[in-house]
Amino acid sequence: MPTVTYICPDGELEEVEVPVGTSIMKAAVSHGIESIVGDCGGSASCATCHVYVESHLEKLPPKSSNEDEMLGDAASEVLPNSRLGCQLVMRDDLASLVVRVAPEQW
Ligand code: FES
Repeated sequence: MPTVTYICPDGELEEVEVPVGTSIMKAAVSHGIESIVGDCGGSASCATCHVYVESHLEKLPPKSSNEDEMLGDAASEVLPNSRLGCQLVMRDDLASLVVRVAPEQW
């Protein structure tokens, strides 16, 4: 099963197996990675799943206008590699994805 490595704000690395078809937000929440909140449950309406994509950025689908708009409300600085974790769905070719969790989600 593909894995995602989450670099948490405290510097801890968490490697999680993420089933194909599951968002990296849901995988983080179900593995107790508390620095990703996922308050809206994945409907791109809270921006509490903000991550910085550190690998495979070129393989990801482009941001929807809704995702882009929600990132405008993110609590942490938005960078060119900022994405909402709920909108990043695992695929086989995204195996070994690395994301850095934004330091503030509220
Ligand atoms: S979980 Fe709310 S925007 Fe991603």
